Amino acid sequence: MNNVLDSLRGRDLLSLHDFSPQEITHMLDLEGNLKQKQKKGESHQLLKGKTLAMIFQKSSTRTRVSFEVGMFQLGGHALFLSANELQLGRGESIADTGRVLGRYVDGIMIRTFAQGDVEELARYSPVPVINGLTDLLHPCQVLADLQTVREHKGKLSGLKLAWVGDGNNVCHSLLYGCAKAGMHISVASPEGYLPHAKIVAQARRDADTTGAAVTITIDPAEAVAGADVVVTDVWASMGQESQQRDRMKIFAPYRVDAGLVAGAAPDYIFMHCLPAHRGEEVATDIIDGPHSVVFDEAENRLHAQKAVLALLMA
Ligand code: CP
Ligand code: NVA
Repeated sequence: MNNVLDSLRGRDLLSLHDFSPQEITHMLDLEGNLKQKQKKGESHQLLKGKTLAMIFQKSSTRTRVSFEVGMFQLGGHALFLSANELQLGRGESIADTGRVLGRYVDGIMIRTFAQGDVEELARYSPVPVINGLTDLLHPCQVLADLQTVREHKGKLSGLKLAWVGDGNNVCHSLLYGCAKAGMHISVASPEGYLPHAKIVAQARRDADTTGAAVTITIDPAEAVAGADVVVTDVWASMGQESQQRDRMKIFAPYRVDAGLVAGAAPDYIFMHCLPAHRGEEVATDIIDGPHSVVFDEAENRLHAQKAVLALLMA
């Protein structure tokens, strides 16, 4: 346990691919522990006096609020920094921004477009950098998702998760997360919108060590067959607004509706990172129905990120 703790202190969270299955399990264990403490009103000020800078180049409800509240509950402080209002927006380099912020704060969370920018920030920042979503990955979301599955199903290993829709940032992080957790993952996306081949290959290598199967298909019914967890996300992510109309047509056969989930396990759970577009990627009766756990999932962002913050920044 202490070795895992030591291996996490001071690290960046750029991608779940960088963490061992044991390290991810440890994050989930601490998440459960901190969640219980918070529910019981027990003090857990593991980051007293510490500050997190939060740089946002894209919109956010859950990520912003859960990181800010999480730092407060851990006894620390969070600073919201809109990229447009930083000198970053006027051309100051990511490298200099990282070097300067690292002189003031104990950790940096960033939501931006290019994964390379997060990696560059991490290279120059003397304090841990946490990926709060890029075009490529959304690791914090998937830590909350794994915890949500674990709470509802009592385990992760051996379950089947089906992803239906765009092979996007959340899908990529789920590929890594499921592979590391020993969960079978089946992704169904239209031709041209499949997850990146390199990420699929890396997830398959991760899965080799845990016994998980990684399947990629264009057939949503095949992906959902017997699934314990059915997940989707918006058809056009932030930054893809101009493609919205085309995507509405291309993705229409990938809507998660009653017909599609009829093929899932009878006690399947439905997850969505939110924000959702009801009637587009998911039918209203599914996201608001008895199998949906989307608000537990949203809540777990708070607990998952508190565990990450405490482990990396302590
Ligand atoms: N799921 C998620 O990251 O939500 P926000 O965009 O509201 O942060
Ligand atoms: N795939 C979505 C996730 C939002 C939390 C996006 O990037 O916009």
